[in-house]
Amino acid sequence: TGYVTLDVGYKNTGATKSAITFLDGELGILKYRGYPIEELAEKSSFIEVAYLLIHGELPTQQQLTSFQYEISRHTLVHEDMKKFFDGFPSKSHPMGQLSSLVCALSAFYPESLKSHQTDEEQHLSIIKMLAKMATVVSWIYKKSLGHPVIYPQNKYDYVTNFLHMTFGQRTEEVEIDPVIVSAMNTLLILHADHEQNCSTSTVRIVGSSESNIYASVSAGISALWGPLHGGANQAVIEMLEQIKEDGGDTDKWIAKAKDKNDPFRLMGFGHRVYKNFDPRAKIIKKACDDILEKLGIDDEVLEIAKRLEEVALKDPYFVERKLYPNVDFYSGIIYRALGFPTDMFTVLFALGRLPGWIAQWKEMKDNKEPIGRPRQIYTGAINREYVDITKR
Ligand code: CMC
Repeated sequence: TGYVTLDVGYKNTGATKSAITFLDGELGILKYRGYPIEELAEKSSFIEVAYLLIHGELPTQQQLTSFQYEISRHTLVHEDMKKFFDGFPSKSHPMGQLSSLVCALSAFYPESLKSHQTDEEQHLSIIKMLAKMATVVSWIYKKSLGHPVIYPQNKYDYVTNFLHMTFGQRTEEVEIDPVIVSAMNTLLILHADHEQNCSTSTVRIVGSSESNIYASVSAGISALWGPLHGGANQAVIEMLEQIKEDGGDTDKWIAKAKDKNDPFRLMGFGHRVYKNFDPRAKIIKKACDDILEKLGIDDEVLEIAKRLEEVALKDPYFVERKLYPNVDFYSGIIYRALGFPTDMFTVLFALGRLPGWIAQWKEMKDNKEPIGRPRQIYTGAINREYVDITKR
């Protein structure tokens, strides 16, 4: 009934009011709860940003300590979850595993299934979701190596614990380089929220039917997987590697990206909202230089990425369409320097985006938003007569 406005891809349709993230695509501004991303990336920690996004305020020291403490009490995942890990082929994509494993958590923590939770119940679901995600992500990595999993240790903060479970060994005590801890914090902060993007909108719309937090986040992970969204960080490194193997001829690949008969796109370039620059890409590019220098790594693909950016930013095709490097253009080079394999990159994006998904899911519930249900303009046949199968 009524008049339907068509906006395929929701290019200009607001689906909600939100007080979480402010984004100005023309001016390249990104703020979480009013705090500029540049300042948070420099001064804050991932867990503090998670608190800020979910609760709306920066925590006091006591609030932060108690938040960390609560999370650390829930980092174990049920031992029977290991059967799910065992069931996946060892080379299966980590994003498929993550989406399934997060949904499977709902079977082990059924108290989260109540559609009308008290504030305390909702708080506990959020704490469990945050706590268990880091364990699940690091165990997916361990499985890919065929190594035994490392259990969480509550003496560590969130990010150090994650890195310890990822790079630690049962056979010896492994010190995690503070450069790696700091780089990981920066990357996770930069990914923590980005208003109504594809995966976040998915989390909100799934949650709007009163699905539980695990099902909603699992759907967000599936949406993030695609190469036009979070999957771009894996696609960028694969593209840079291909260009390297091809002799490093960036002009040739720029020409391919411009060719409308070629499906190839310059991965890590362009954004639906940013039309001048992506502020996250600026921070990541600089962090990339710093981190590789500190770790003493010389990666040829960084040179190729910089050359590609330089050529593209002068090319009328990219200038006219306002295509700039996005958050995914340089992040993979850092993840690689930290020791992560390419197919883990999008999983790290998911770990970073988790507080944003949770904050948006909670806001949708707090605002008592109705079920999400877009309309359509029907273009099919109107009246047809059923023909018996023998006569078709
Ligand atoms: N390489 C070549 N041409 C491009 C690119 C690119 N990376 N991105 C956009 N274009 C062209 C596109 O072909 C179109 O040209 P024309 O007007 O001649 O038809 C024009 O620019 C506008 O593009 P669009 O696809 O209509 O824009 P959109 O807002 O629907 O898509 C996007 C945005 C991010 C999906 C797209 O820019 C893209 O595919 N980029 C590559 C993938 C990528 O890096 N994704 C990560 C996005 S940022 C982080 C995240 O969300 O996870």
